[in-house]
Amino acid sequence: MSTTMEQTILTDEQIRFYRENGFVQVDGVLNAEELEELREYLGEAMQADQDNSFSTDKEGGAYYRVLNQKVNTWRDHGGMAKYVLHPRFAGLAKQLTGASAIRLFHDHALYKMPGDSKPTPWHQDMPYWPMNEKGSLSIWITLDDVDERNGCMMFVPGSQKAGKLKGIDFINPQDIKEYVEDPEIAAKQPVIVRMKAGSCTFHDGLTFHYAHSNQTDAPRRVLAIIYMPDGTTYSGKGHPVTNGEALTADQPIRGRLFPVLAK
Ligand code: SIN
Ligand code: NI
Repeated sequence: MSTTMEQTILTDEQIRFYRENGFVQVDGVLNAEELEELREYLGEAMQADQDNSFSTDKEGGAYYRVLNQKVNTWRDHGGMAKYVLHPRFAGLAKQLTGASAIRLFHDHALYKMPGDSKPTPWHQDMPYWPMNEKGSLSIWITLDDVDERNGCMMFVPGSQKAGKLKGIDFINPQDIKEYVEDPEIAAKQPVIVRMKAGSCTFHDGLTFHYAHSNQTDAPRRVLAIIYMPDGTTYSGKGHPVTNGEALTADQPIRGRLFPVLAK
């Protein structure tokens, strides 16, 4: 697989791996020019005034030490929209899930800041999403080389089979294993995923994942995009991205903020 040509078609083995393990690594989803461009756009989006995008904590806050996060960068920055709405990435999500079409849920810039950095605790994403069905997933595109020193991720293979557990508090985290009933899943060992800038992982909304703290002196810069299979229905629970939108409980999530990106 080339690192200068971006990957658009997954191998059968990558698809099988994702469905079995709940995550997969895909190298070279950005070519060198795209990597440079997205670094520039993401930096601008993090600095920009917030209109429709929003940060989840201020510098110095406890959550900020885990993640300096900005949600829905695409709504305030045209360059971010180019990448967040890009059919290539959504197309990979479609191949992995086998969904007939893929919609956007939201994006987030995920900077793990240097200096008193905390790990992202073991958690599933799905407990935070107002969706009735499973199947939604994230792409996590790293703009920096990542390893254990600056915030690379770990995944527990097959942990998506544990079903939806309780949400974890990112500041005072519970031990997710205490919620796991199946001893086989509780005994599984995590996999460390070190990657080159411009590569990505996909993970299912139910897969247990963790990110190391950042012990270097530069931010770890990531763009994550959350996708849902078309037809995923709204649970009716509050969420910063759906609040104020015309959604009806138990009806498909759709409309101006949740476009179909691949079909
Ligand atoms: C992180 O980037 O540190 C965590 C990402 C995630 O929870 O999906
Ligand atoms: Ni997560």
